[in-house]
Amino acid sequence: MVLDTRQIDDLAVELAKLHPADIIKRAQQEYGADLGISFSGAEDVVLLDMASRTGLPFRVFTLDTGRLHAQTYRFLEDVRKRYDVTIETMTPDAAALEELVTTKGYFSFYEDGHTECCGIRKVEPLKRALAGFRAYVTGQRKDQSPGTRADIPVVQVDSAFSTPEHELVKFNPLANWSSAKVWQYIREHEVPYNPLHDIGFRSIGCEPCTRATNPGEHEREGRWWWEEATKRECGLHIINLGQAES
Ligand code: ADX
Ligand code: SF4
Repeated sequence: MVLDTRQIDDLAVELAKLHPADIIKRAQQEYGADLGISFSGAEDVVLLDMASRTGLPFRVFTLDTGRLHAQTYRFLEDVRKRYDVTIETMTPDAAALEELVTTKGYFSFYEDGHTECCGIRKVEPLKRALAGFRAYVTGQRKDQSPGTRADIPVVQVDSAFSTPEHELVKFNPLANWSSAKVWQYIREHEVPYNPLHDIGFRSIGCEPCTRATNPGEHEREGRWWWEEATKRECGLHIINLGQAES
């Protein structure tokens, strides 16, 4: 069933009252194997834990940028085995990546911003991944980024990645949960987690663009810290900036 934007907005109001596990369950009931959990290898592992407890179908995908921490690759492997789940792995287009690193080297983002590299290593692979789903689930939360995520609903039509032929629904079941709640769930349910979290990393992305944060700093300070705070979205969630990617 395809829901229009108004129906999705109504659904968002209804689902916002539910526990994230129940939101995921509803998504699984509606979309089954056409639902993909977008798993980054960080604390969004709780999504996978919740989905696997329902016994209902779902799929998982990750965007392997080639620049993740060694700990994150090991964690992805631990999760694959622990949940006995296939992690569909998207990699960047080889020709585009070769062109980028050949002409600009491995750290061009420190000089001219992260948009180009993220475009090649994350956004284009995400577009390819999403072509295979009718709906997907992210671990975005409002408290992750007051500047760009304060208004995210628990479900929305993804106007950035939908096409006239292919409407894509985006679930953000953790939108209204705090980081503390996520960590409470991880402890209570003995969910495996990325060991980088034990050494000060609160938000985890690619190794060269992620750093540990000090107490008192917002977690988003650990991402693309050399750029303006308002630009710290890599394009995966471009819809948060109120503009669609072409
Ligand atoms: S990002 O846009 O700044 O990189 P963030 O790290 O906050 O995103 O993660 C928010 C959500 O985006 C994650 O919970 C996950 O659903 C999705 N996401 C981020 N990075 C990846 C990735 N490499 N692979 C798959 N999903 C990802
Ligand atoms: Fe490239 Fe950094 Fe973006 Fe990763 S986060 S894709 S390394 S710019």
